[in-house]
Amino acid sequence: MVKKVYNWGILAPGNIARKFATELQTLANARVYAVGSRNVERAEGFAKMFGAERVYDNYEDLVADPEVDIIYIASPHALHAEHAFLCLDHQKPVLCEKALGINQAEVERMVKSAREKGVFFMEAFFTPHQPSYKEAKRIIESGVLGKVKYIQGWFGFNKSPYDNSLRLMNPALGGGAVLDIGLYPVFDLLYFLGEPNQIIAKADFAETGVDESISIRFDYPEERSASIYASFVAASGVGTDILCEYGTLRLRRSNAINQSLEVEKQGSEMKRLIWEDPALAGLKLEASEAMRCLDENKLQSDIMPHSLSLSLIKTLDIIRHKAGIIYPGRD
Ligand SMILES: NC(=O)c1ccc[n+]([C@@H]2O[C@H](COP(=O)([O-])OP(=O)(O)OC[C@H]3O[C@@H](n4cnc5c(N)ncnc54)[C@H](OP(=O)(O)O)[C@@H]3O)[C@@H](O)[C@H]2O)c1
Repeated sequence: MVKKVYNWGILAPGNIARKFATELQTLANARVYAVGSRNVERAEGFAKMFGAERVYDNYEDLVADPEVDIIYIASPHALHAEHAFLCLDHQKPVLCEKALGINQAEVERMVKSAREKGVFFMEAFFTPHQPSYKEAKRIIESGVLGKVKYIQGWFGFNKSPYDNSLRLMNPALGGGAVLDIGLYPVFDLLYFLGEPNQIIAKADFAETGVDESISIRFDYPEERSASIYASFVAASGVGTDILCEYGTLRLRRSNAINQSLEVEKQGSEMKRLIWEDPALAGLKLEASEAMRCLDENKLQSDIMPHSLSLSLIKTLDIIRHKAGIIYPGRD
């Protein structure tokens, strides 16, 4: 039974905000209530598309609207901290897109502010909410495949030639492969293996200075290791293989909704699990989790807790420093 219908405020109606709002519309306890944009026509177009009642031509008025229950921040990562502080200063619960911030110090300040103000705060990182990830975690924790020995993860696409004015290509907005897509396989290592004790990283750079590809090797105690690759110029798709003592898990997805998990246990037939039902996957799961936390007066999610966001940005900082990736004036 629905406890409360939440009025969502959408801050920055770009590409991902449109996908998020489309999925939000499928939830009985959510309503796309308000939108704030720097551009009033964009806000109006978005409001029309999703039936939002309130339209703001700036973010300040959006977060000040007393009818807004929770804000979804969908601006470029370099602006997440500024926009999160704006929400938290108005006591608004926040679901903030990944990468949560540009660096560790920034994310630490965001989390500290949320805790001090007693306001719900969560990174919009969709993978741990997905059924394929929950099943992979369950299998690993059950011990049937033994210990994880090696993880290989990748995330790549190729939409070149790129327009250098894109967010993705702009170092000042935190553009580049590592914060945009590399963080997904990095998250997988942290999720299934924990923090590494050594990292070696190498990036290739586009002419704007952003990393267009990155390859990373991670070492762990007890002869365990991992490697990942992320790129804007290699159409690799998205996958993570988890090699264990007695078998292998293969996670694949073509978008936030379509996903599969292959389970191959030594001596047994391979099992392929597929999730294609849009009701059971996608960005809506993180929205549902945020509203469940609000229903229960929780300040953070158990599925995507602050500690996981902090661990992720700490690891990303080390990778960036090793690979020489710089966001002007932000290190
Ligand atoms: N979870 C996922 O699967 C996923 C997928 C893609 C992206 N993302 C994340 O979502 C965030 C937004 O990505 P996007 O692809 O939606 O970007 P986008 O299409 O470029 O939209 C970003 C929005 O931010 C606002 N903005 C505010 N200040 C800006 C500035 N100085 N320059 C550019 N835009 C500015 C703009 O909205 P107004 O001008 O209308 O205010 C713009 O529409 C990123 O952090 C990205 O990592 C997540």
